[in-house]
Amino acid sequence: MSDRTIERVLVCIPTYNERENLPVVVRRLRAAVPSAEILVLDDNSPDGTGQVADDLAAADPLVHVLHRAGKEGLGRAYLAGFAWALEHGYDAVVEMDADGSHQPEQLPALLAAVSDGADLVIGSRWVRGGSVVNWPLHRKALSVGGNLYIRVLLGMPVNDATAGYRVYTADALRRIGLHDVASQGYSFQTDLTRRAVALGMRVVEVPITFVEREVGDSKMSGDIMRESLQRITVWGVHHRADQLRRLRRREATWHQL
Ligand code: GDD
Ligand code: MN
Repeated sequence: MSDRTIERVLVCIPTYNERENLPVVVRRLRAAVPSAEILVLDDNSPDGTGQVADDLAAADPLVHVLHRAGKEGLGRAYLAGFAWALEHGYDAVVEMDADGSHQPEQLPALLAAVSDGADLVIGSRWVRGGSVVNWPLHRKALSVGGNLYIRVLLGMPVNDATAGYRVYTADALRRIGLHDVASQGYSFQTDLTRRAVALGMRVVEVPITFVEREVGDSKMSGDIMRESLQRITVWGVHHRADQLRRLRRREATWHQL
């Protein structure tokens, strides 16, 4: 068990029409982890969230804003945020939704796992002690079914690979290599999980309570689901083909003995 020192933490918060939610989550975060800095990633929200973010930043030197030209998806927004974090020398980067689903009060537990040596910490709904509050049955089924499909195809020892409450060390992000990440939407989460696992990184799941938003709407859509399903299937086929190739090679070696 290592004891890694994490000094500079950046919490990336992607926003699209979260005018009412953003000030609440920022206030809770500043109270829960006062030393953490915050980067809002706004995709030019029509409801004026960008202006709300600018006002928060003007009042607090630990809050920063990255304005993006338009809605390009969660994955793209995070990629921009991660690049900013690496440029500015942070030690750890947090992913957190703006709508209160990821409780800032649970962040210290996630950061503790990084201090204990994890490269990627996943705030997990589907491990013992984790849960979801106020999700309709169809959302639960989608998440459980999606994670099952991911486990069967990709064979990863992760229970909540689609989760969006995470901490990466800066070093992990550098090693994962972000230049060729193609995922635009929520499949970004699974994509980075799969890359971290393939690199043999220490991926640790910490149980969280995910609380469904009370204000505003989810941006989950048919397009996002289709992208996820397609990409996971392609990654799965490649993964299984690789395994088969390795198995054949081993068999051939056996026959030569
Ligand atoms: N900048 C930007 N651009 N932000 C976005 C975009 C986008 O295109 N799409 C969504 N967001 C922001 C939202 O404003 C919110 O802060 C956060 O991303 C999550 O979006 P939600 O729409 O609230 O997601 P959800 O609650 O349906 O989905 C949750 O579960 C998914 C599946 O487990 C999230 O935790 C996802 O991260 C997770 O993959
Ligand atoms: Mn949400």
